[in-house]
Order: sequence, then structure tokens, then C-alpha cells
Amino acid sequence: MKIFIDTANLEEINLAHSLGVLDGVTTNPTLLSKEKKEPLKQLKDICAIVKGPVSAEVISKDFPGMVKEAEELAKIAENIAIKVPITEEGLKATKILSAKKIKTNLTLCFSPTQALLVAKAGASFVSAFVGRLDDISTEGMQLVSDIKIIYSNYNIKTEIIVASIRHPLHVLEAARMGADIATIPFKVISQLLKHPLTDIGIKRFEDDWQKLNDALGKK
Ligand code: G3P
Repeated sequence: MKIFIDTANLEEINLAHSLGVLDGVTTNPTLLSKEKKEPLKQLKDICAIVKGPVSAEVISKDFPGMVKEAEELAKIAENIAIKVPITEEGLKATKILSAKKIKTNLTLCFSPTQALLVAKAGASFVSAFVGRLDDISTEGMQLVSDIKIIYSNYNIKTEIIVASIRHPLHVLEAARMGADIATIPFKVISQLLKHPLTDIGIKRFEDDWQKLNDALGKK
């Protein structure tokens, strides 16, 4: 499973990149607004760090406006993927962008039928927002499972991004289900790595090594 980071923060992106585990980045207007910087410049800086897909979202609601914005965003770098909301206008824009070989990430997916339609329109990625479904007492990961079955049934190439991830178990389930990508906030990436038994084990090895050195009269 590929790991993307869900942030527009350069420090977090640099850190995750330095771990050697990062395959891409997803941003959205909320994440970019938190950085309080010029968004196009911020996206350019992100693309300079990460070679994999970097998602940037359009704001327009009508498809000609979406396509125009997408073409501007696509000029930032070759690895930009255009995030398009799942609406009628979004589907029209996706068809056009797909024909122009511009990568698209159809966002705010909350149902398997939405995922089926975006694939038919030629989306490169679909973003299933699992955490926001959990928030309203609906099993978010069930959505991923359903999309995975549908896409497998028809050998659909659109990649499934598990988005709106809130905790490590979302990532574990995503990997078990065979999702293509999990886009993960920095905090959760750190949580994936941590295990108290690893820390205890390191400490015990250090202590025993020190005891051996003490016994041998070494410093
Ligand atoms: O990639 C989608 C993500 O940014 C949404 O996350 O936590 O706002 O539901 P959240």
C-alpha cells in the first residue's frame, strides 16, 4: 500500500519524506489555509520535495471553471493531481481532464455508487473519507471494502485512497483490504511507528551492554 501524507505543512512533509516512506501528498483548501502562505507557491514547494502525486483541489463549482483551474494547477509540476469534488460538474470536468492526461483525484467520496461513477468518468484516484463517516456513526471502512469489491469485479484501474484517517487502525484495515493508498496525517504516521515494547527492548539492550562494559572495566 502506498503512503501519502495528508497535509500542506512543509516541515511535516520533509520529515515524512526523510523517513523514506512517503509516496505522495494530499492537500485540500482547509489544509492549505492553515499554512497561511500563497497556495500556488506552497504547492510548488511541496512538489519539489515529493516526486509522487501531490493533490491540489479546485474551488470552482462549474465544470468549465474546474477545468480552467485544473489546467493552471497542472502547470505547477508534472506530479500534480487535481482534486475534484464528486458532483455532476465534477464528473464532466474529470472526463475532460482525463482526456487531456491530467491526473484527477475525485474527493469527498461517501458512497460506493459515487466511486463507480467517478471510475467510469476516468478518475485516476478516488478519495474515500472514512473518518467523516465514522463521525456520523456509519462504518467508514465498509465504504473502502465495497469500493474494493466493485473495482476488482471490473478490473477498474482508478486507485482507492483511504482519506480522512483518524487513527492507526484505519491504516491497518486499509492495508488488510488491499486499498491502493492511505493518506495519513503526520500524527498518525508517527503513531504507526511507535511501540512501547520496542522502546523497552532498546533500553534493555543498552543497559545490558553497559553492564558488560562495566564488568570488562570499559567506559
Ligand atoms: O484527505 C482528506 C482529509 O484531509 C479530510 O480529513 O479529518 O478533515 O475529515 P478530515
